[in-house]
Amino acid sequence: MTDHTPAPAADGAPAYAGPELIVSGVQPSGALHLGNYLGALKKFVALQDKAPCYLFVADLHAITVWQDPALMAAQTREIAAAYLASGLNPDIATIFPQSAVRAHAEMAWIFNCVARVGWLDRMTQFKEKSGKHKERSSVGLYTYPVLQAADILIYKATAVPVGEDQKQHLELTRDIAQKFNNDFGAPGYFPLPEPLIQGPGARVMSLRDGKAKMSKSDPSDMSRINLMDDADTISKKIRKATTDPLPVPETIEGLADRPEVDNLVGIFGALADKTKAEVLAEFGGQGFGAFKPALADLAVARLAPIGDEMRRYMSDPAEVDRLLARGAERASLIAEPVLEETRRLVGFWRSRG
Ligand code: AMP
Ligand code: TRP
Repeated sequence: MTDHTPAPAADGAPAYAGPELIVSGVQPSGALHLGNYLGALKKFVALQDKAPCYLFVADLHAITVWQDPALMAAQTREIAAAYLASGLNPDIATIFPQSAVRAHAEMAWIFNCVARVGWLDRMTQFKEKSGKHKERSSVGLYTYPVLQAADILIYKATAVPVGEDQKQHLELTRDIAQKFNNDFGAPGYFPLPEPLIQGPGARVMSLRDGKAKMSKSDPSDMSRINLMDDADTISKKIRKATTDPLPVPETIEGLADRPEVDNLVGIFGALADKTKAEVLAEFGGQGFGAFKPALADLAVARLAPIGDEMRRYMSDPAEVDRLLARGAERASLIAEPVLEETRRLVGFWRSRG
């Protein structure tokens, strides 16, 4: 059985030479939190003036675990509202529901036949999400990273802003792109997209446990700051965040073995557009009695207006729907021709008429 495996590009094969393009997505599977904002949304806003951005609501990914059909559309609008409230300009960035551009799903099928089972078996997110119930997980949860590769490559994206937890999925995307290019004799056809992960907000941890990722699925609401939390709730969660009795350290080395402190310093830096070293230069030696109120004020100043703006968009679903429909049309203009060309490379039948 041929598997056409390892696929390093032939020496001298032309690299992708097309335009820069940015793709990313967020799943409509629960309330957005500070980790989503710093790991993804804030980066999207900074990138929208630099290259065309295709930013979707990943509803196809969300249904890899059960989602109540009665809530799906509203959750999709909520993510779109968060994109807009964070500062994305829908006249510049293209914002749409993933399922509304059907080419994603067809591309994913083709890539299911390019990716190898061995590659997916190494994906840590599947292992985490399926846990002890692998046999009862959906097949979609297993091939989830293949759909993600389709989301990215159907726009021939060159860069993908995401949080640290998506790094392995981006590596798989590059492997799929390279194997497709090799197998179908199309060197340089798909770009090998770069993950944009760096920065202090790439991995925001729980406010209760510095070793656990801040996550939508943590049972404790005190573990995360939700984008829809009001100012009092944001302040309270920061005041109650786990720390230790020592003061804020003066150097980066002083953050070692203090994951909760490292996390709060990182959050401050990401919200203030400063490095951790700059934050430590300002607060090193001070107690948390001084640092936490400063962090709470900063978080409220940055996040409360986003929550207010989200509520405003969510009170006007017709306007959000109009923007999503327009975005889907614009995204299809890029995705459909790439799908057509990919079908041609695979050799599918086409009418001669
Ligand atoms: P999800 O909610 O899983 O669809 O994630 C949407 C985006 O937020 C992805 O780019 C994730 O990598 C990012 N993200 C999720 N949780 C965190 C976190 N705790 N810290 C940083 N980025 C995160
Ligand atoms: N898997 C991503 C997450 O859970 C969401 C996602 C789906 C995505 N498709 C994507 C991110 C394509 C970047 C590019 O966070």
